[in-house]
Amino acid sequence: MKIVLNHKCYLTKSEFLKYQEEFLNIKTSHELIMCPSNLFVALFALPEVSLGVQDVSASEIGSHTGEIAASQLREMNVEYAIIGHSERRKENHEDEEIINKKIENLILQEMTPILCVGETKEEKEHGKTLEVIKEQLSILKKHNTKKIIIAYEPVWAIGTGSIPTTEEIDAVLEYIKTHFPGATLLYGGSANETNVTTLKNSKYIEGYLLGGLSLKQEKLQIFLNLC
Ligand code: PGA
Repeated sequence: MKIVLNHKCYLTKSEFLKYQEEFLNIKTSHELIMCPSNLFVALFALPEVSLGVQDVSASEIGSHTGEIAASQLREMNVEYAIIGHSERRKENHEDEEIINKKIENLILQEMTPILCVGETKEEKEHGKTLEVIKEQLSILKKHNTKKIIIAYEPVWAIGTGSIPTTEEIDAVLEYIKTHFPGATLLYGGSANETNVTTLKNSKYIEGYLLGGLSLKQEKLQIFLNLC
């Protein structure tokens, strides 16, 4: 399984260094991709773990104050980037056009995009889940999707403790697999060491995107043992 650890905007420098030292005790045969704050990319030193970031600029290197370009990240040994996380779609007004440019820039640098898709509570209640997913994935038609990771993250499940049923997850992942057979499929949204035994019943989950759990190493270890 591929396990993506999304630290979001947590951990100060001293906390990150302590976290990283403790992380050397994590034992797993799963493939781990850690996405800390951009500030810690240069401090990253975990030999068994791949390095990712939580976003990338839609622009290429140039006059874009405050941005970080894919080519800059590549030279820092960053291999993956989370794109289109619902927190960025909401707080930074990222639309499909911006997300598409980010994917283009990553592919140019031979980095792997981890594209997040998912419906809001309201969209789910109106039976629009697949419609929303289809729209969010429409940009992928232009790309070679063999090197793309797609994370199904229902917005209403992120950080709430609620998860969809395995049947609901599989209905979405089956749709994605049919249309993008080369992509690797993850589930994200309140996945934890307790519900992983239920999530394991999914026929399509090939890994997880973990937010809150990524910061609790004891529980993360239990999760990794069980998944
Ligand atoms: P969560 O976050 O695991 O804390 O729900 C997942 C995410 O936002 O990627």
